[in-house]
Amino acid sequence: MHKGKKIIAHRGLPVLAPENTMGGFKLMEKYNVDWFETDVTSTSDGELVIIHDDYLDRTTNKSGEVSRMNYSEIEDADTGFWFSSKYDGEKLPTMRDIVDFVNETKINLNIELKGITGPEGNKLADGLVYKLKDLLDQIDPSVEIIISSFNSIMLAKMHNIAPEYEYAILFEQHTLYPDWQLIADACGAKTVHLESERLTYDMISEIKKRGYNVNVWTVNDHGRANELFNWGVDGIFTDVADTFVGEKGE
Ligand code: G3P
Ligand code: MG
Repeated sequence: MHKGKKIIAHRGLPVLAPENTMGGFKLMEKYNVDWFETDVTSTSDGELVIIHDDYLDRTTNKSGEVSRMNYSEIEDADTGFWFSSKYDGEKLPTMRDIVDFVNETKINLNIELKGITGPEGNKLADGLVYKLKDLLDQIDPSVEIIISSFNSIMLAKMHNIAPEYEYAILFEQHTLYPDWQLIADACGAKTVHLESERLTYDMISEIKKRGYNVNVWTVNDHGRANELFNWGVDGIFTDVADTFVGEKGE
């Protein structure tokens, strides 16, 4: 139906299971999901953990800023209880869990680097990119990987040490500066990730004309997805990937 286009499961299947949890990611195997997106950041002692927010508060039973806490303080955080009792006890995944998961399932990965907050930000950011490279290098070459970030500095740091991967720069609509191409090139990004809201055909064709791929977030409406694909968009991030790709064996 969407031949040649990427349907990227945004944080897993967050309508059916808690976002960014192994339980949610494993549920993707029931469906024909072949791409997913997730978010990585660092604890204060350099463990790479999978969480969207800078703070634990929204999605776990703990409180505090991830980059100011040791892994031992957060490793038993419950990330599923708020969603449904079925997911009680889901732990905060680590980047190692993601590597093992994609090696087993061969689902392609978009890993989004979150900007590191807190006073140790510079040191943690350097630690993150080196550790992430080491882990990504352990992924089976048949798994495609896109590394993305809103933070151009994080992306450039990663690209400097691991230019062999594909990179995508994320822009919120109001920050798609006229010099977007300069920013993309400084990060080694051949792909631009854009917000769907206020995105126009002219903007997409300009970016495509200059030779970049475009993936758009977050698109849950099938009509909008078709419109974007007709405009030349290469992929969409969606919270309802299951409704786009269908169940296996159907
Ligand atoms: O990478 C696409 C999308 O995930 C970017 O926004 O805030 O959901 O990480 P956010
Ligand atoms: Mg994200």
